[in-house]
Amino acid sequence: MSVTVLVGSQWGDEGKGKVVDILSARYKIVARYQGGANAGHTIKIGNEQIVLHLIPSGILRPDVTCVIGNGVVVDPNALLNEIEFLESIGIDIRGRLLISHNAHLIMPYHKLLDSLNERTKDKIGTTGKGIGPCYNDKYARKGIRIQDLLNKDELVRKIRANLEEKNILLKKVYESETLDVDKIIDEYLEFDERIDPYIKDTATFLNKAIDGGQSVLFEGAQGALLDIDFGTYPYVTSSSPTSGGASTGTGVPPTKISSVFGIVKAYITRVGNGPFPTELFNEEGRKLQEVGAEFGATTGRPRRCGWFDAFLTSYSAMINGIKDAAITKLDVLSEFDEIKVCVGYELNGKQLKTFPNDISTLENVVPIYETLSGWKKDISGITEYDDLPLETKEYLKFIETHTGVNFKIISVGAKRSQTIIVQ
Ligand code: GDP
Ligand code: IMO
Ligand code: MG
Repeated sequence: MSVTVLVGSQWGDEGKGKVVDILSARYKIVARYQGGANAGHTIKIGNEQIVLHLIPSGILRPDVTCVIGNGVVVDPNALLNEIEFLESIGIDIRGRLLISHNAHLIMPYHKLLDSLNERTKDKIGTTGKGIGPCYNDKYARKGIRIQDLLNKDELVRKIRANLEEKNILLKKVYESETLDVDKIIDEYLEFDERIDPYIKDTATFLNKAIDGGQSVLFEGAQGALLDIDFGTYPYVTSSSPTSGGASTGTGVPPTKISSVFGIVKAYITRVGNGPFPTELFNEEGRKLQEVGAEFGATTGRPRRCGWFDAFLTSYSAMINGIKDAAITKLDVLSEFDEIKVCVGYELNGKQLKTFPNDISTLENVVPIYETLSGWKKDISGITEYDDLPLETKEYLKFIETHTGVNFKIISVGAKRSQTIIVQ
């Protein structure tokens, strides 16, 4: 029995969806613990590509139960669209999807405030899904939760109280349109019937399942460098994608978690604003973007690309407690004669001893690179570690040595079948 937290080790989009899909064959329950529909997790089965934003990627395995934990912020429209989409492709989710009664609801004013904040000079480059403003209300103790859908009077009271304040903010501070409270009340009263069957005390469910010997996989969204505390603040998301978030985001205590599994992309990408020391602005960066098809799965924005950063990844491994990991998109590097890996940063001619997550330092550091030979062979059909070219194995060993992380899964393509399990 294992209780594992799967985390993105970089700025998101490391290939978590694909790896959750592979690993969930060995788990009975897959649970999301933070974030919301800002996530875009892609799974490719045969030639069919599925992108999930809210529902855990484990839903594609018929015997897996999926949980949306209390730490997630749920946009009811996005949720119902995703349920409809899954049903339309023949995936039966009834009885297999549970949503925490304590999860917070994304409201129309959260999305509007998100887009208005993004019009200011300090914009973050968010996904526009209302994530920051929703967590804002959660921590200001003004949020509306899934359980409020079950109590009509409470729901109406809370929506009215919020709108009273939000409309003043919208009008006076943002000089924007205001929102029609009755329209929002009508819309949210309708969600009750459709979402009711999925609502559950998921903390009790998960703890009982673990006590009964069932294995649970926690599916992190985003990545460590987007963490509200340990990421490149303020260019982060508003939740805790790092492994610690799995406990507060589900109610499963740290003592019941047996391991943390990292997802490491063979190079680095980032969507949105913020520092990125190894970012490439040249032909190599364009090649990573093109060969890796690096476009956001949620917003379609091109992802910024750069060389692998071992210094950043060892910081991420420390914060998350990653020992074992999957390396993804290794096939994308097959076209390069030489591959660079950042092994440290210099600031004003001095090598830094620890990773700086304050942006003023991070914006000014100079990466220290080591150059490795490329393998220049198509590896996307290889299914055994021993069959990988020598240079590929050397690249993997180099990264393992410089990050302290061991690769148990090597992903060489988007499909389930393009996966090497390291014995
Ligand atoms: P996530 O947010 O971490 O789940 O990652 P995304 O789904 O946003 O982005 C990863 C992208 O890379 C998706 O389009 C996947 O289909 C694709 N992908 C995953 N693993 C591999 C791989 O090993 N090789 C290649 N070429 N593509 C991959
Ligand atoms: P997955 O789970 C990559 C980024 C946004 C922006 C910042 C804040 O697919 O890896 P937000 O909308 O969360 O307030 O935006 O975080 N971001 C992601 N980048 N992958 C994601 O999720 C992301 N979710 C948010 O681009 O820079
Ligand atoms: Mg993604």
